[in-house]
Amino acid sequence: MTTSNAQTAPLTQARLTLPFELADAVSDHLMELGTLAVSLEDAHADSDEEQPLFGEPGMEPESAAWDLNHVVALFRNRDEAEQVFATVADELGADGGLDLNAIEYAEVPQEDWVRLTQSQFDPIEITERLWIVPSWHTPQLAQGRVNLVLDPGLAFGTGSHPTTALCLRWLTEHPLDGADVLDYGCGSGILGIAALKLGAANAVGVDIDPQAVDSTAFNASNNGVTMPCGLPDFPLANRQFPVVVANILSNPLKVLAPSLCEHVAKGGHLVLSGVLARQAEEVMAVYRQWMDMTIWAERDGWVCLHGRPKA
Ligand SMILES: C[S@@+](CC[C@H](N)C(=O)[O-])C[C@H]1O[C@@H](n2cnc3c(N)ncnc32)[C@H](O)[C@@H]1O
Repeated sequence: MTTSNAQTAPLTQARLTLPFELADAVSDHLMELGTLAVSLEDAHADSDEEQPLFGEPGMEPESAAWDLNHVVALFRNRDEAEQVFATVADELGADGGLDLNAIEYAEVPQEDWVRLTQSQFDPIEITERLWIVPSWHTPQLAQGRVNLVLDPGLAFGTGSHPTTALCLRWLTEHPLDGADVLDYGCGSGILGIAALKLGAANAVGVDIDPQAVDSTAFNASNNGVTMPCGLPDFPLANRQFPVVVANILSNPLKVLAPSLCEHVAKGGHLVLSGVLARQAEEVMAVYRQWMDMTIWAERDGWVCLHGRPKA
């Protein structure tokens, strides 16, 4: 087989349905044996029994894993796939529960995987005015349209998650001209960068994850803006801001309440997300010690909370 044939020959995809513990063990063995790719998918996806996985720092996840999983594995060819699964069955032992006859094989054409992955990320319209555009798309230029160039990366925040989209919507629907914005839990820096492109004078980012700090600096420079960013002891964040936005999760938001409220300047705005609708009252109750709180908007079970300092 020539190199060019090797690059274009179809791959073999194997698919089987397993309960979580076995799916987990089988995928670990597959990876150790050099399988090209292994993924687990909820076997009930897109049905009424689909099982969302939620978890928060400091809380037991409501569900840590799907009960029933599709294990999908990719191999160079069918022979390799069958050999690898035979080895996994051996390693798990006769009582291991892996039924080799239940595996469905299919050929999948070799793709340009980078292009395929990129094609799954289209520009996202947050509002008519604000769009998130991956760097491999040419942004459309139109009067009043703000394009934020952002690629999926290691830090959270591409605009596709409802909590990010809710905060972005808040930023587009309120005048930011000349305001200073604190983006607490900045991830990719998406909220602070959007604020700057929408007219804020300055934006400062804070995150506990050093990867988020790097990612924010990279994305800010890619968008032609400057957004200083650091870990929670970052001196530039140590002041009050007319707008503080924090898209984290309900538990850390409750813990951070005194400090976040202290960062909001007199007459300023606090915008919180990462909160499920059923958690809204509990989170607002904590913030009501310092702020007048309302639910500003809701999307797909998530809310965006808005607070103003009490007079
Ligand atoms: C849901 S992501 C939001 C990212 C981005 N701001 C957005 O809206 O898409 C939450 C971010 O908060 C950060 N984070 C979590 N707990 C934090 C804390 N106690 N202090 C600062 N950042 C925190 C995480 O590292 C993560 O980058």
